[in-house]
Amino acid sequence: MIILGIETSCDETGVALYDTDRGLLNHTLFSQISMHSEYGGVVPELASRDHIRRILPLIRQVLNKAQRELDDINAIAYTKGPGLAGALLVGASVAAALGYALNIPVLGIHHLEGHLLSPLLSTPAPQFPFIALLVSGGHTQLMQVNGVGQYRLLGETVDDAAGEAFDKTAKLLGLGYPGGAALSELAGQGRSGKFKLPRPMLNSGDLNFSFSGLKTAVLTLINKQSMDQQVRADIALAFQEAVVTVLTEKALAALSLTKSNRLVVAGGVGANYHLRKHLTQKAAQTGATVFYPQLEFCTDNGAMIALAGAMRMQANDTTPNDSTGSFTVRA
Ligand code: KG4
Ligand code: ZN
Repeated sequence: MIILGIETSCDETGVALYDTDRGLLNHTLFSQISMHSEYGGVVPELASRDHIRRILPLIRQVLNKAQRELDDINAIAYTKGPGLAGALLVGASVAAALGYALNIPVLGIHHLEGHLLSPLLSTPAPQFPFIALLVSGGHTQLMQVNGVGQYRLLGETVDDAAGEAFDKTAKLLGLGYPGGAALSELAGQGRSGKFKLPRPMLNSGDLNFSFSGLKTAVLTLINKQSMDQQVRADIALAFQEAVVTVLTEKALAALSLTKSNRLVVAGGVGANYHLRKHLTQKAAQTGATVFYPQLEFCTDNGAMIALAGAMRMQANDTTPNDSTGSFTVRA
């Protein structure tokens, strides 16, 4: 079975072809980041218009590169939500039109389900059940994953997402949008221990997170310092250490609570080198293994949506989660 995956939830047009026998056949991505960066964030109307411009050429490109025809596609998976309404509509409309023309099933996939399953595009792929730490620009959640469509929310952020905190702090430090990767790079020149920032909700006794106070603490710190490049790097490092510590401790607590020894990390912040290193080391001390998506599949992409669609088709479950509500179903 060959599944076409379409991702248009935000500022990336992602398209992929996934074969249930042979794996990922081809995938491509057009990022609108440079277009939005001059505005300091994503402009929804510009995003939708650009998805319209890109999507059909990208589908053609993926088919050509995989040496496949439209008629070879057996199902279409597209991101149903959450995301920007206009941007989502582009992917949904193209999927519906193609599905109708080709007379094949069309599946709306929850964006987070795509992220959640993205480490399964790598080898070795994690076996079910596992705990997933989802850390993207819009979400921060800990999930118990028992199988395709069997997800139980264990904890989530009560305010900003981890990626959002990275982006807002990066902005305070004068870095561009989205600033997560740039902040991480700047932190590489920072001196550990120069500044200490709070570890929000570290001892809250649950698996929830909070990151908005951390950003405010950074602002207070910036206002008190005479800033130069070294101080900016020191603050970036202190911020990154605070976020990484909280994410690591809560993920380990989730493993211990559920008696699991497999952790999957997904979403854009999962590309963070410091998080990967720290989490892998700490988890190994408890006998747990951590699985990550390839770097290119941490942030939004079509491959994870095609894979989620393929897994849904194989599980004979074509009724994906509600795209708007909390991402919790049938544990
Ligand atoms: O998963 P994603 O593409 O978007 C959502 O679905 O929200 O994640 C994007 C987020 C942004 O906030 C970006 O700053 C962050 O992931 N990010 C990083 C890194 N690379 C991307 N954050 C920290 N370190 C990185 N290396
Ligand atoms: Zn995403």
